[in-house]
Amino acid sequence: MALLKSSKIIATVGAYTPALGVLPLRASSWWSEVQMGPPDPILGVTEAFKRDTNPKKMNLGVGAYRDDNGKPYVLSCVRKAEAQIAAKKLDKEYLPIGGLAEFNKACAQLALGSDNEVLKSGRSITVQSISGTGSLRVGANFLSRFHTATRDVYLPKPSWGNHTPIFRDAGMQLKAYTYYDPKTCGFDFKGALHDISKIPEKSIIVLHACAHNPTGVDPRPEQWKEMSAVIKKRNLLVFFDMAYQGFASGDIDRDAWAVRHFIEQGHNVVLSQSFAKNMGLYGERVGGFTMVCKDAEEAKRVESQLKILIRPIYSNPPMNGARIAATILNTPELYKEWLVEVKSMADRIIKMRDLLVSNLKKEGSTHNWQHVTDQIGMFCFTGLNPEQVERLTKDYSVYMTKDGRISVAGVTSGNVEYLAHAVHAVTK
Ligand SMILES: Cc1ncc(COP(=O)(O)O)c(C=O)c1O
Repeated sequence: MALLKSSKIIATVGAYTPALGVLPLRASSWWSEVQMGPPDPILGVTEAFKRDTNPKKMNLGVGAYRDDNGKPYVLSCVRKAEAQIAAKKLDKEYLPIGGLAEFNKACAQLALGSDNEVLKSGRSITVQSISGTGSLRVGANFLSRFHTATRDVYLPKPSWGNHTPIFRDAGMQLKAYTYYDPKTCGFDFKGALHDISKIPEKSIIVLHACAHNPTGVDPRPEQWKEMSAVIKKRNLLVFFDMAYQGFASGDIDRDAWAVRHFIEQGHNVVLSQSFAKNMGLYGERVGGFTMVCKDAEEAKRVESQLKILIRPIYSNPPMNGARIAATILNTPELYKEWLVEVKSMADRIIKMRDLLVSNLKKEGSTHNWQHVTDQIGMFCFTGLNPEQVERLTKDYSVYMTKDGRISVAGVTSGNVEYLAHAVHAVTK
């Protein structure tokens, strides 16, 4: 009876609904105060590129490797690892909060070198992360919670565009030190040392381990040595971002030299790693976050807090990419094959740099383009100014970020001549 009554009421209210026209049909907005945000500068470049109908158009904005036909590249060792994993018919249970143990171990060994004293003594902790970005953010959150001495984080000028929001959103304060010299399109070593020597003690300094993004400018080993000494003297906490190990020189040990040197010199660094570029696992989101501690007991305490921090953010990391990377790193034949493939990607980029410069010369350019071949890794800071970039886009359908950065990975033997022609045309 009660049920009948209530359904009657509903029917009645339903019948009267049109008469309630005075009431707004939609609730008033909760978000009227939310301002439209600016589009991501790099994704904006891609959007404009997609709209362009010029068959010669080039997208040099995106930081993802392309093969010599301009196509995305899946490494053969990745395909083989995937097949091996699929054949095992593994379950899909949750990973632990810190991720896949065999991945974490191999990830740290890749960065530090398997015979590193830090790993033997157990005074470091590595957790699997959601690629490099997730690793940086977990690190930033950890600093925000536990590095109470100061909140200041010093980034190289310029740095990867996402560094600022990652640290800022974690509650840290961003500062900068001199890095790039626009006059030489190279490293301003003197300026960097000068600025670093004035950074207040206990601040955090972010260093790109290799293949600096966006400039492609890395310190040389002697310069790293001096930087390490000054940073030690200033008692700064070093945060290495290593998103391109192997991708810079083609040699994973050479690219990890700075990280290993700093640790050898007594810096208890924190380190972000990404497997997006060097294994081409972009969308798999696989990376690692390592903290080198004073001793094994400190590492255990730090590990416990990392887990407490990660658990309410994403609970535990995704497994597929970590399984692929772990299979490659822990299977000798696949590992060997991977080293060859990383080198071939790095070599193709180095070759494109050479070809760009030789074609610029062929075009008759008299500018000094040596920085194009001196710089390393996926990106090249061409030195083109915003007007020249605009002309390249408007007149030649060559797309890049306004700062003149090109992703050399987007250059191929098929389009390098056209690129050189266009660059020469806007710089003569
Ligand atoms: C300097 C630097 N750090 C970190 C990352 C992180 O990338 P991902 O989150 O895709 O691993 C990138 C990617 O472009 C980068 O250039």
